[in-house]
Amino acid sequence: PAPSSAAAGDFLRCLSASVPSQLLLTPASPSFTSVLASSIRNPRFFTPGTMRPLCIVAAANASHVQAAVLCGRRHGVRLRVRSGGHDYEGLSYRSVRPEEFAVVDLAGLRSVRVDRAAATAWVDSGATVGELYYAAARADPQLAFPAGLCPTIGVGGHFSGGGIGMMMRKHGLSVDNALDATMVDASGRILDRKAMGEDLFWAIRGGGGGSFGILLSWKVRLVRVPLRVTAFTIQKTIAQGAIDAVTKWQTLAPALPDELTIRVVIQNQQARFQSLYLGTCDQLLPVMSSRFPELGMTRADCREMTWLQSALYINSGSTGQPVEALLNRTTSLSTFTKNKSDYVKQAITRESWQKIFPWFNGPSAGLIILEPHGGQVSRIADGDTPYPHRSGVLYNIQHIAFWSGDGGTAATTWINGFYSFMGQFVTKNPRAAYVNYRDLDIGQNAVVGGVTSYDSGRVWGEKYFGAANFKRLAITKGKMDPGDYFRNEQSVPPLVQTP
Ligand code: FDA
Repeated sequence: PAPSSAAAGDFLRCLSASVPSQLLLTPASPSFTSVLASSIRNPRFFTPGTMRPLCIVAAANASHVQAAVLCGRRHGVRLRVRSGGHDYEGLSYRSVRPEEFAVVDLAGLRSVRVDRAAATAWVDSGATVGELYYAAARADPQLAFPAGLCPTIGVGGHFSGGGIGMMMRKHGLSVDNALDATMVDASGRILDRKAMGEDLFWAIRGGGGGSFGILLSWKVRLVRVPLRVTAFTIQKTIAQGAIDAVTKWQTLAPALPDELTIRVVIQNQQARFQSLYLGTCDQLLPVMSSRFPELGMTRADCREMTWLQSALYINSGSTGQPVEALLNRTTSLSTFTKNKSDYVKQAITRESWQKIFPWFNGPSAGLIILEPHGGQVSRIADGDTPYPHRSGVLYNIQHIAFWSGDGGTAATTWINGFYSFMGQFVTKNPRAAYVNYRDLDIGQNAVVGGVTSYDSGRVWGEKYFGAANFKRLAITKGKMDPGDYFRNEQSVPPLVQTP
């Protein structure tokens, strides 16, 4: 049952003993709405109908996070944890089910401490990946980190789900480069890797945010990049051979040298090939002309720049901005989205692509992004981290429908129809999905006897993690949080094994 308002009052009194009043915002506080909105990326979950939290704990240090857990458990109030606020279903600041909950907002916990000599960094969960990229490159322009493309993604949620990006073919996912972490567990204790043990350290590296505790910080291995890298973008219409190029790209891109990543965006019946090469234009040209002459890439397409500039260029398409733009945390509330994902293991035929392209026609049509795997991300075994989409995966598909204000019905009808059509071409039994592209349509938890049931979790969990990894996640959850305090619509259920 939802806690009574008396419980809510007790919870707030308990918190106010440990958290300064200016960091504890209730709906009566003047800044409540602006702080709540500050990192919301998807305005679908910022409407008058969206359930608002009882309060926001704007944590400034670890003790505020511990207080939220201890008071929440004592008084039966659950927490939603928010780092960068980019969750596609808004699970870091809203609850689908009617319940009283508080938001622990980690945006204030965002320092990045780089050890240049060791090529490592401790990064707080509330930092954005843009802030991490900037700090690494400022310490040494040849240091970088493999993570996602959008600079405002939060480290806390992003690493919790894996972290795919333009350097995963060379260096793996973000979590493949995690060395240590600190977190607050369901008893309010602070654990590092040694204290949490290897099962829990395994689970937090991609098992999805919100299930195991509140991650405070991560220690990561930074990677070496050359002083100059080369980016290029080439767009092809159907008349210019887009269908042949995409057909070939499917098996070519995962087999290219690890230094070269070519992703594809299909929109308006055109294919946009966006690339990052960890080397110079002179080195790249012979690779492109021998392996992918169909793109017709020439020296004029090359844009040589620092790796840090490429992080900005690949996301925004613009070269004129100063790299400090990576530190801008402002998000806009103008675009509503619905996202879904797939994985492809067997190349889709040219005839099928001819049927797929017409879907990207018309005012409600969205877009898809194809992210090649292969290279390092596929050399790591499926069970080494919870992210199971490794060897044999050619590429990930992200489906995106978007609209502004009205128009949601047409766009969601489009994405549902397209996703259903694509079912014949992608992984099956289960149809795999990427937890960081959160999609509540693939399954939601049912709570039975006070805890999330394992059977309800399997429906979505085996799609994100595979059956073996999901079971291991659930057993780890059963050891760490058997009472299922940390839960949401897609949190890992506790599987408590009786000897
Ligand atoms: P947010 O704060 O919303 O948290 C996401 C989930 O993790 C929630 O369930 C939340 O409760 C939980 N959580 C957050 N902080 C936590 C913490 N400290 N401890 C425990 N749980 C925590 N992905 C990708 O791999 N590659 C990419 O290139 C992109 N690109 C991209 C672009 C854009 C515009 C968006 C909106 C999203 C992406 N993503 C992505 C997806 C992104 O990786 C995913 O949404 C992350 O979970 C976002 O992390 P945030 O901290 O921003 O989210």
